[in-house]
Amino acid sequence: MMRFGIKAVLAAAVLAVGLSAPASAAGDAKPPAEMGWQFDGLFGTYDRNALRRGFQVYKEVCASCHSLNQIAFRNLSQEGGPEFSEAEVKAIAKEYLVEDGPDDYGDMFERDALPRDKFPSPYPNENAARAANGGAYPPDLSLITKARGGGADYIHALLSGYEDAPEGVEMRAGLYYNPYMAGGKIAMPVPLLEELVEYSDGTEATVEQMSMDVTHFLNWTAEPELEQRKRMGFMVLIYLTIFAGLMFFSMRKIWADLH
Ligand code: HEC
Repeated sequence: MMRFGIKAVLAAAVLAVGLSAPASAAGDAKPPAEMGWQFDGLFGTYDRNALRRGFQVYKEVCASCHSLNQIAFRNLSQEGGPEFSEAEVKAIAKEYLVEDGPDDYGDMFERDALPRDKFPSPYPNENAARAANGGAYPPDLSLITKARGGGADYIHALLSGYEDAPEGVEMRAGLYYNPYMAGGKIAMPVPLLEELVEYSDGTEATVEQMSMDVTHFLNWTAEPELEQRKRMGFMVLIYLTIFAGLMFFSMRKIWADLH
């Protein structure tokens, strides 16, 4: 009897901690390939180098249309992330301008970003963003891997999955064919082309590589505490195992004495 109890506790704990099945993408969209990410599973961790390359792709490509307004520059140096040095973070922040104010005269002004600032939007407001993108709004990317069914697999497939529209499919100007998008049409032009960035670590910048890396990075922005959470989950499992063992032996002793 007791043995089943222990197994049940362990099974429940494993279920609770680990393996959350990704929801499937909506509608008629092509299902994305499962990529088997290093951050998946009970012992998942981020790959520092992939995070740094992914950040480079975000900064040099995606940031011209998409904000990252849940992430401050200084988060880039925190444990479990890309772990840039503080000097590197300062230098990255300095490349951006943020609005501040009002000053003593009541005027807003622009200044270099500081590590405590969030990544700013490339547009002054939503209308400007829509006007620049044929009416479509480039969403903030901070939580995008959580906000879409299929998660990281979907983002990767979308970025690397543009195709020519199949015969018979009418494409309005400003829309592009992508079978992973529900409805097959997306207002985002093909964002990644071979060798679009030059990786500072020498990795070859194929479309596949860049979409893997930037998705890795965007999973971190959506879940910066993932490594800590998984470590904690593992500790809880060990604790539960020991606790269940203690319970087993003490119950046995109590019942033995009663007979
Ligand atoms: C030229 C501007 C532009 C660039 C550059 C760009 N995007 Fe987009 N993106 C858009 C627009 C516009 C939309 C909204 C598309 C729509 O709703 O049809 C969008 C939508 C998205 C979506 C949401 C798709 C969905 O399921 O609704 C994701 C994810 C995304 N972009 C990721 C990226 C990433 C990652 C990069 C960099 C590799 C990038 N984008 C570069 C303009 C851009």
